[in-house]
Amino acid sequence: MCGIVAIIGKENACRHVLDGLKKLEYRGYDSAGLAYIYDKKMFNIKSVGKLNKLINAIEESKFSKLESSKVAIGHTRWATHGKVNIKNAHPIIYDKKVAVVHNGIIENYEKIKEKSFLKSYDFETTTDTEVIPVLIDNFVKKGKSFFESAKSTLKIIDGAYAFAAIHQDFPNEIFVSRNTSPLVIGIGSDFKVVGSDSHSITQLVNQVIYLEDGDYAIIRNKEIEIFDKKDEKTHRKIVNVNTDIGFVSKDGFRHFMEKEIFEQPNVLINTISSLLQENDKIDINTQKIGIKKNNAILISAAGTSFYAAIVAKYWIEKIANIAVSVELASEYRYRNPSNVGFSSMIVISQSGESIDTLMAMREAKKLNLKTTAIVNVEGSTIDREADYSLYTRVGPEIGVASTKSFTSQLTVLFLIAIKLANENKTINHKEYQSFIKLTKSLPNSLSKCLKMNDEIIDIAQKIKNTSNTIFLGRGYLYPLALEGALKLKEISYIHAEGFAAGEMKHGPIALIEENLPVIMFLISDGLEDKSISNLQEAVSRGARTILIGDRKSIKKAKFVNYSIEIPEFEKKFASTFSPILMAIPAQLLAYHVARERGTDVDQPRNLAKSVTVE
Ligand code: G6P
Repeated sequence: MCGIVAIIGKENACRHVLDGLKKLEYRGYDSAGLAYIYDKKMFNIKSVGKLNKLINAIEESKFSKLESSKVAIGHTRWATHGKVNIKNAHPIIYDKKVAVVHNGIIENYEKIKEKSFLKSYDFETTTDTEVIPVLIDNFVKKGKSFFESAKSTLKIIDGAYAFAAIHQDFPNEIFVSRNTSPLVIGIGSDFKVVGSDSHSITQLVNQVIYLEDGDYAIIRNKEIEIFDKKDEKTHRKIVNVNTDIGFVSKDGFRHFMEKEIFEQPNVLINTISSLLQENDKIDINTQKIGIKKNNAILISAAGTSFYAAIVAKYWIEKIANIAVSVELASEYRYRNPSNVGFSSMIVISQSGESIDTLMAMREAKKLNLKTTAIVNVEGSTIDREADYSLYTRVGPEIGVASTKSFTSQLTVLFLIAIKLANENKTINHKEYQSFIKLTKSLPNSLSKCLKMNDEIIDIAQKIKNTSNTIFLGRGYLYPLALEGALKLKEISYIHAEGFAAGEMKHGPIALIEENLPVIMFLISDGLEDKSISNLQEAVSRGARTILIGDRKSIKKAKFVNYSIEIPEFEKKFASTFSPILMAIPAQLLAYHVARERGTDVDQPRNLAKSVTVE
């Protein structure tokens, strides 16, 4: 994973690199560092922990010529190979001469270390990255230029990566290369900047070039030379980007996650209004999605986005009568899937950079499926490579745990479901109008759900010291049980598992012991009695039960320890919309438990917002 920034030809390059890294912490925050060249000498500074530690370290110590350097590279790390410590923090520097910042994995690094021509080299880190500066140094010592040395290095390394390298004897050049992991070059008039995403550099430039897979480039103050994987000099499109939204603030909230939960009513207005025309027609082109008669739709994603996919399956099958298959992106790519009966794949990704999802989409393309992306970040790799994109438009989501992205993804997927249903005539005009009307009322309904905050704080205080929890749900609320459990484990570090309520008796019930919190999402949909029985079974075995449900279901399940009633919603449709409405209490519960436990809510341990390694 990790975030990379590099600058050449700009005054105060190090400060600009730090500004860029601030915007890349979503890619990892185990350690950070930067290297710069001044007067043909390489300097570097690294620290373990978040970027602030590095910034403080820079402020505390006077670094030689840090302000004067015009060439610098920087990195924020999410460790893959090698423990989190100063040595393994990037830039990885060889012989105080070559410095490399790297995102991704060099898969054959162990074999490279054994190569006879590298025998004289002592490897100082336990990273996969170190082979890059070592190889470059080796070729430079043999008389090649920096560019030729880095190019020769590419012939030896394998894996999915993006990296930037500098060499103190070649202070006017930065070498960059990408293979799968993203890299973008920003064009300033007499300087150039490189970042892992365009957002990290748009405070400096508004024209960028997205490198393509296998591309490498040598970058100088006033010039960029790009080569493709066949080593042919090439030109890539210059794209205008005006997306600098600056640094996002918490607006008085304690955490970004809290702010993003409370933002949902407002951002959902953006999602809905961007896809709904004034005449209530849905601005989604199902032909572009590539859905063909008698074919099923494939939906693939990771993490929270995957749980949105399961809800979509239930909606599309029930409302539009089209078969849907959902696939974990990390599984799809390698299992030689069949394309029989499929003509289209929809991928869902907030970041548009999750490598598993990107690879699943590429696999689908190979299988001749049309690809549609539901993404938040415009210009991301998945957005650019998909045949067709639909945007959630919720603005930057900073908290690692996905919140507003989930509800907006669900909203887009719901609109796809009713568009298909309308085209397939599985709903009549009146039903279509009701669905549209209720979709438009969602922001208001979410505002009402947010009023459950205080009650949820009470519950959070009651369960904050537990070490295990079980979440249950049935039908549309089964994926929400999975999402509720994911949220809680991600940010509170409490072990949480979600199950379909009916599955409890097939194994999970063995986990029930005295006082174990069992949290059920429930809506009266005709099947509520079955779920209530499942909850009874847990009570009989000593569980503490928490029911988040509508008034009717709560009345029926009087035996539970605690219950929270969700606001009333149009009865006939409450069940259909329940995964969106109940996402709010699920998110608030995880948030308040984590806050009570004092964990790092926005940047929980071991996680990253965008997972760009397999
Ligand atoms: C990471 C994040 C999750 C997110 C998942 C998919 O694991 O921690 O919160 O749901 O990636 O991310 P995407 O950007 O593809 O939706």
